[in-house]
Amino acid sequence: MKVEKVREGRTVLKVPRVRGQPSSRDPVFYNPHMRLSRDLTVASVGPANPRVVCDPLAGVGARGIRIAVELDPDTVVLNDINERAVELIEENVRLNGVEDVCRIENRDANALMYEDELAGSFDYVDLDPFGTPVPFLDAAVRTLRNRGLVGVSATDVSALAGRYPRAARRKYWVEVERVEFYQEVAIRALISYVVRTCAKYDLAFEPLVAFFQRHHVRVVGRVRRGAKRADRALRRLGHVGHCRECGFTDVVEPGEDECPECGEDLTILGPLWVDDFADRSWAKRAAKVAGRLELERARELLERLAEEPGTPPWAYDIHQWASRLGLARVPKLKDVLERLRDEGYRALRPHYSTKAVVKTDASPIEFRELLRELGEESC
Ligand SMILES: C[S@@+](CC[C@H](N)C(=O)[O-])C[C@H]1O[C@@H](n2cnc3c(N)ncnc32)[C@H](O)[C@@H]1O
Ligand SMILES: [Zn+2]
Repeated sequence: MKVEKVREGRTVLKVPRVRGQPSSRDPVFYNPHMRLSRDLTVASVGPANPRVVCDPLAGVGARGIRIAVELDPDTVVLNDINERAVELIEENVRLNGVEDVCRIENRDANALMYEDELAGSFDYVDLDPFGTPVPFLDAAVRTLRNRGLVGVSATDVSALAGRYPRAARRKYWVEVERVEFYQEVAIRALISYVVRTCAKYDLAFEPLVAFFQRHHVRVVGRVRRGAKRADRALRRLGHVGHCRECGFTDVVEPGEDECPECGEDLTILGPLWVDDFADRSWAKRAAKVAGRLELERARELLERLAEEPGTPPWAYDIHQWASRLGLARVPKLKDVLERLRDEGYRALRPHYSTKAVVKTDASPIEFRELLRELGEESC
């Protein structure tokens, strides 16, 4: 296996040199395209100032070692079941001079999280598996101390975002289909699963920062003990009904499956997390950590994320709406945002979008009217 050195944040890492797309079949897994995800993780965990950290699926050790170098904890337990990964973790720990802080293990992640001498006292656990986090999530939320943080990645975006509804049902016990705001669905389906996993153990999960990127969905949140709190967290789950015909979308109650606008069947998605998936003040504090660590893209993204709370659990794709309304010309994103704000609505481009997607507190009916007016004006 050929290795090369890369720099991420303030950390230097020896990583396998891979041609093409990294794969779970590589001798040791390292994905350079997930660097922003790692930057975001370090920044999002930063405000908690974690003392005792666990990276149970560490690969080359990138996340755990970065936390050791960039956040200054007392102890980081790095673990991987792959012996060759562990050899690289050892080299990387030495390379960054964090031997005093890091302990390296070579076990099954679940066994480690249940049996380690620090089990039950971790301030932060980072779950970054191949594909779904489901097999590791129970152990991760149970090995935290009260009020500890867990970071969860899922790369099986095709299931969470509704392309493979049966896989989503099997893995996450959620009904999803592909809709135009699929990124919202993926983020909220993952959070919903974490909330329900926690609730089984009388634990309440509260998301602090969540994001969607091309390859994955990630949420970092706090786990608190208490049955009542867990009940309250469950009450923040719900179903979103979406009409493919006229675009009506809302949080609906069980049995409400007909579109109140046009009478078509609604596509029902859920249970999803239907409350905010970012905590504004946490996201701002995380953005400051990113700024201090000179992680510029992460800082920008966290600042954008801090604006999203208070908007509903869906988004409007301008192109999709323009074609639904048969508009001759597609209004520009800038004009749509400006008009919504002029009319007194909140309006923003969500963190995940590079396209003409808008999040706003305007209802689909209000949005439709406004877009129609703009479409007609621009003719
Ligand atoms: C996606 S990679 C981790 C990447 C790493 N977190 C990063 O950011 O570069 C997942 C890792 O989990 C390890 N793994 C898979 N199953 C495991 C298990 N049951 N116990 C411990 N490690 C496991 C794999 O060997 C692999 O290194
Ligand atoms: Zn309808």
